[in-house]
Amino acid sequence: MRSGGGARVWDADGNCYVDLMCSYGPILLGHQHPAVEQAARAQAALADCQNGPGPVMVDLAELLVDTVQHADWAMFAKNGTDATTMCCTIARAQTGRKRILAARGAYHGSAPWCTPRPGGTTPEDRANLGYYTFNDLASVRAAAEQAGDDLAAVLVSPFRHDAGYDQELVDPAFARGLRELCDAAGAALILDDVRCGFRLHLGSSWEPVGVAPDLSAWSKAIANGHPLAAVLGNDRFRDGARSIFVTGSFWFSAVPMAAAIATIGALRQEGAIEAMEHAGTVIRDGILSQAKSWSLEVNYTGPVQMPYLTFAGDSDHALAGLFAAEAIRRGAYIHPRHNWFVSAALTDDDIAMVLAATDEAFGAVRKQSTAS
Ligand SMILES: Cc1ncc(COP(=O)(O)O)c(C=O)c1O
Repeated sequence: MRSGGGARVWDADGNCYVDLMCSYGPILLGHQHPAVEQAARAQAALADCQNGPGPVMVDLAELLVDTVQHADWAMFAKNGTDATTMCCTIARAQTGRKRILAARGAYHGSAPWCTPRPGGTTPEDRANLGYYTFNDLASVRAAAEQAGDDLAAVLVSPFRHDAGYDQELVDPAFARGLRELCDAAGAALILDDVRCGFRLHLGSSWEPVGVAPDLSAWSKAIANGHPLAAVLGNDRFRDGARSIFVTGSFWFSAVPMAAAIATIGALRQEGAIEAMEHAGTVIRDGILSQAKSWSLEVNYTGPVQMPYLTFAGDSDHALAGLFAAEAIRRGAYIHPRHNWFVSAALTDDDIAMVLAATDEAFGAVRKQSTAS
C-alpha cells in the first residue's frame, strides 16, 4: 500500500479503496488523523529514541489508568504478542504458579507459546498451557481442575474472533464465571484486548459487561497506527509486574506514546466510538439487505465495528473469497477469513462506495452459486 488518508487507502498502482481492514486494527480514527500526526511530529521534533523514556511515558500511563477502570498501573512494549506474553509472565511471577488456560483456537500472538503454526516450536513451549472452549464455563472448570493448585491465569479475548469462523459475543454469565473462578483459585484473569481495545468502548472491552480483569493486553489501535503496546494491571499484580525483566531496543520510543495520548484525546473529543458504531450499523444493514435481495444466505457476526461475513455452507471460504475479491476490485477493502475493522473516519460517500461494491460482489457470488 502506498498511502492513506481518512478512510481511504491507495495501492502502489494508484487504485483507491475504502479501508475496512484498518491495517488489521491499528487504524481507529482514520489514516493520517491530523491531531495524532501533529502530536507525533511535535514529539519527533524533540526526540524519539533516547537513553530513557520521555515524560510522555508517565503522561500516557496516567491517562490509561484514568481511562481504563481496572488499571492501577501501565507498562509499555511494541506488539500485541509482547503484551500477551508479559501478562502471562506477570501472572506467573505474582502467583508462583505455572499453568495458563486459553481458549482453543484463540489467537494471542506469534510467540512459540501461542503461534497457530507450530513449525520450529517445541512441546515444552506449550507445556504449561491448558485449553477450554470460549463461552463454555464447564470446560474452563475442567481445565482448571487439571491445573489444580498450579493455576496462574485464565487468558480470554473480549469476544470470540478466531480467524475464519463466525464470531461469537461473550455471554456475560461466562465472563462473570471466569472472574469468580479466578478469584476462588487466586489466579489472574487476563483480558486480551489487543484486537478490540478502544474500538468497542473507551475503557476495557469488558467494562460494559461489568467484569474487570486483573491484567489486560493492548496494542493495535491505542496509538492510531503508531507502534505501541501496553499491559495494564491492578494493584494485586503490581509486585509481579515489578519483578520481571522485559525490555526492547525501541520500547521506550516517545513518538508513539505522544500519538497514543492524542489518540485517546481524539477518541474522547470526537465521539469516535459512536461514529464507528453508526457507520458499522449502516454497513451491516446495507449488506444484509443486499444479501437478501440476491437470495444469498449469509452470517454477519460480531460487533458492528468488527464484523465478519460468511456464506451458508461455504466451508472452504470459496464464496467468501470471491465476494472479497470482487468487492476489493470495486474499491471496498475487506477480507474473506478475518474480521473487518470499521474506522471513525468513514463518511457517507465512503459508505456508499462500500455498499455499491458489495452489491456487485453479491451479484458475482449469486452468478457463481447458480452456475455450480
Ligand atoms: C487478540 C490478539 N492478540 C494478540 C495479537 C498479537 O498482536 P501482534 O500481532 O501485534 O503481536 C493479535 C494480533 O492480531 C490479536 O488479534
